[in-house]
Parts: sequence; structure tokens; C-alpha cells
Amino acid sequence: MARSAAVPGARRRLRVGVLGLGRMGRLHAENLAGRAAGCELACVSDLDADRGAQVARDLGVPFVGDPEAVLSDDGVDAVVVATPSASHAELSVAAARAGKHTFCEKPISLDHDETLATLEAIERAGVVFQVGLHRRFDPDWVMVAERIRSGELGDPYFFRAALRDMSSPPASFLTGSGGMFLDVSLHDLDVARWWMGEVVQVWAQGAALSDPVFAEQGDVDLAVLVLSFESGALGVIDNGRSAGYGYESSTEVVGSKASAYIGNRPPHGVEWRTPGWRSTAVPSDFTERYPVAYRRELEGFAASVLDGEPVRASGWDALCAFELGMAAARSCSAGRPVRTRPYATAHGVRYEIDGDVAGPGTEVPAGAR
Ligand SMILES: NC(=O)c1ccc[n+]([C@@H]2O[C@H](COP(=O)([O-])OP(=O)(O)OC[C@H]3O[C@@H](n4cnc5c(N)ncnc54)[C@H](O)[C@@H]3O)[C@@H](O)[C@H]2O)c1
Repeated sequence: MARSAAVPGARRRLRVGVLGLGRMGRLHAENLAGRAAGCELACVSDLDADRGAQVARDLGVPFVGDPEAVLSDDGVDAVVVATPSASHAELSVAAARAGKHTFCEKPISLDHDETLATLEAIERAGVVFQVGLHRRFDPDWVMVAERIRSGELGDPYFFRAALRDMSSPPASFLTGSGGMFLDVSLHDLDVARWWMGEVVQVWAQGAALSDPVFAEQGDVDLAVLVLSFESGALGVIDNGRSAGYGYESSTEVVGSKASAYIGNRPPHGVEWRTPGWRSTAVPSDFTERYPVAYRRELEGFAASVLDGEPVRASGWDALCAFELGMAAARSCSAGRPVRTRPYATAHGVRYEIDGDVAGPGTEVPAGAR
């Protein structure tokens, strides 16, 4: 389990430096600079000095060009790692070794072994480590998780999730993203485990339709995943990179006693009516869809560091979602379903994929989660 020990004598507000100020890092920096309770933005860093200096000016904090200088700053308690995914592992390990509690965007790495080595290094360093699986902090998803756990939904039979970008991120981002299954599906796979329990089979299909860049990179821009859960329940996830109508994130669970549906929350509440038609706004991207979750995940991180609250989006959960993403990628390229075997370790559940990702542990009994 990720460490969540309280820091003796810690300041009431966590002083956080942000590494990487692109789409996600800038949002985290803005939240830390006043919106997220218990947090304070200490400084910002980016390899792009112009971008970094601009964000620093906008938010009234120092710009630090060299990320190493952030890690050696005694006035910084923690860092947010929001750089491109391939650099997360190295920066997270360096931060942990420097004694900085670390909030790392997903995925932890693009490589399975490096993800594992990163988590082990962080465990040894003993800092709090949280991953940007923001839906674990969204009030809607949290409420459904709690009502499933309390038994109100009965036995969960069916899971359905959609996560679709309105337009594809730039090719420069896609190249280092890890591809659809590790970059996008990972979020829904994490929710699927959280709500439904462990997954025993993934069957994925993908297509590259909107831009030749996807086929050139061996990636897909549209994917459908069919999941079989250990309980016998089934699930369907659809992910897309270019749903022209807008950004969509919705999730549904059907149980024996009730069902829950989280729709695509609009960015404002106006319903515009004309004769025979009514329309509501559709979010254009993740920043419009999840303003609350992105703030709360930072508040949760601060609470884990300052108050010893358990980490709700742990590195080990992110590793499980990554392993299921790997299974989906393998299924998609092989054109067949892929078995996933959950097994218990000292840190929680891990997955063996088609018998390949073996490791120490024992089989998780059905319904153990
Ligand atoms: N949780 C979510 O909903 C969500 C949404 C979008 C992106 N992300 C994740 O956030 C991360 C960043 O994505 P993005 O879309 O913001 O990328 P981006 O390309 O918009 O921004 C990355 C920034 O990092 C800077 N950078 C690169 N290497 C650096 C280094 N070593 N040190 C400091 N700065 C560095 C770049 O100059 C750039 O400004 C990715 O890992 C992505 O998967 C998560």
C-alpha cells in the first residue's frame, strides 16, 4: 500500500511545486494556487521557459527552470508531475528520493517493469504517492462506489463506460502517450475494478479512422473493450479520440436491485429551447467535465500528506489499470480475448496477462474485493 503517514509538525497547507505546465499541469497549478483547500502553489517548472514564465506570472509564483532545483528546495513539500508520460517515472523517483511527496499524472510510466520499479523505489523512500485517477475523487463516482459497497445496488451485473475526446490531442502528445489503451482506457479500467471487482478477461477491438497519424503510430482512435469480471458480470467500455460533438465521460452500472447512471455533466446549467427542440451545453474537454474532481484529488493528496488520510488513487491501483490496459492492447493487436488473472501481493492485487506477467502471490478468491 502507498504510505499515508502524517508528517509530524507539517504546515497546515501543503506547499506544492508543479513540474510540467501543459494542458494538465497548468490546470493543477491553477487549482493549487487558490482553489484546492490545504494546498499552496510554491513554484512552477517547465522545460519550455516561455511557457513556464508565463504561468508563473499569471499565478504569482516563482518559475524554476530546472526541475532538479524544485526537488532540492526545502520550501517545497510535494510535487505534481504533469510532464509527458515517458518522464513520470524518473521524475517521481527523483522526487521521492528527495523526500518530496508526489502526485503523478497517469500513467506512471509507459513500461510495465519501470512502473513496478518506480513504485518500489517510492515505497523505500516512504513518501506519499498518488496518481491522477481523478474519478476516484469525483463526488458522482464516489457516491456510486459507496452505494455499491453498501449493497444498495445488489449484485452488479453490467458496467458501461464511455470516454471520448472531442478532438485528438496533437501528434506530439500522441507519440509519447502510450496509445489509446494505456492513455485513455486506463481511466475506465480503473473505475471498472473499483466498482465491479477484478477482471478475468479483456476483449478489445480498435480502429483508426479520424487521422492517418493513428495508423502510422500503430495506435487506434476508436476502441471498444468487452470485460468479464470475476463475479461473472460483464462490461463494455468505448473510447474515442475524436467525437466531434464534444468531450464525453459517462458511466453506468446495472445491478440486481438498482442501477446508477452518471451522465455527461454539462459545463453550465442553461437549457436552450426553441420550437420542437431543446439543447444543453456539451463539455469540450476534460477540464470542463471535471472541475470538481481535479480540485478534490489535490485536496485528497494534501489530506494524505498532512492528516495521514489513506491514499485513494494509489500507485498500485494505477499499476492494475495499466496491466489491464496492456491486456487490452494485446487483445486488440492479436484479435482475440485475453485472459487476465488477478493475484494478491503484499500491496494489493496485480494481474497476470495470458500467463505472461507472472509474479509472486496467490490467486485472489472470487469476490475478495
Ligand atoms: N488525468 C487526466 O485527466 C489527464 C488529462 C490530460 C493529460 N493527463 C496526463 O498529464 C500528462 C501531461 O499531459 P499534457 O496533456 O498536459 O501534456 P502537454 O504536452 O500539454 O504538456 C507537457 C508539458 O511538460 C513540459 N515538459 C516536458 N518535459 C519536462 C520535464 N522533464 N520537466 C518539466 N517540464 C517538462 C512540456 O514543455 C509541456 O509544457 C500526461 O502524462 C497525460 O497522460 C492526464
